[in-house]
Amino acid sequence: MTPFVVVEGIDGSGKGTQANLLLERLKELGRDAVLTREPTNGAVGKLIREHMQNPFLDDKSLALLFAADRIEHIEKEVIPNLEKGRVVISDRYVYSSIAYQGQTLDPDWVASINDHALRPDAVVLIDMDPQVSLKRVQERDESMEYFEMDMRFQEGVRKTFQSLSKGHHLPESLKTDFIVVRGEGIRKEVFERIWDKLERHVMG
Ligand code: TMP
Repeated sequence: MTPFVVVEGIDGSGKGTQANLLLERLKELGRDAVLTREPTNGAVGKLIREHMQNPFLDDKSLALLFAADRIEHIEKEVIPNLEKGRVVISDRYVYSSIAYQGQTLDPDWVASINDHALRPDAVVLIDMDPQVSLKRVQERDESMEYFEMDMRFQEGVRKTFQSLSKGHHLPESLKTDFIVVRGEGIRKEVFERIWDKLERHVMG
């Protein structure tokens, strides 16, 4: 099957921009590719986004909803596109659940409710200091989702992402190749750093 690549990072790390640049590069090189995201635009994803605007779920229910949304994502978007020979790039995936929901819940439990998740071929982790990323988020003309507001929370998420990239807290089924890139600086330069390490995964 064609490669399945995930882009992860804290809020404001620029991962959405980098995922788009990756899609453009692949298309320029004649590779068929699609960009998906979590939470999805499906029914469960919409419920999650409503919760983020105005919280009404407890942490465990939210974690289970992210896992349910992921099942839909994998079955309706990821696998069908891989089967059509397209590279699939996902803006966030199971590693976000472990990093975010793992701040208040047992990360092993969060991993265990996601053991259905298809293993990606590579995860690009955009690593960034939350002091810088939260400034970016504040400058964006969007309403701040509640996860985006708390610096200490984002620091915890960053640390968990870093330890996931070293294989800690990950069941065997979710271990994969992590490409860790610093997110500060000009977006095109950040992208070239990613491409340098990712090319062999997506063009090989
Ligand atoms: P976004 O900013 O990439 O659209 O993601 C929306 C928020 O959802 C972001 O704050 C991270 C959070 N999130 C989780 O908490 N757990 C998850 O499993 C996923 C996919 C996202």
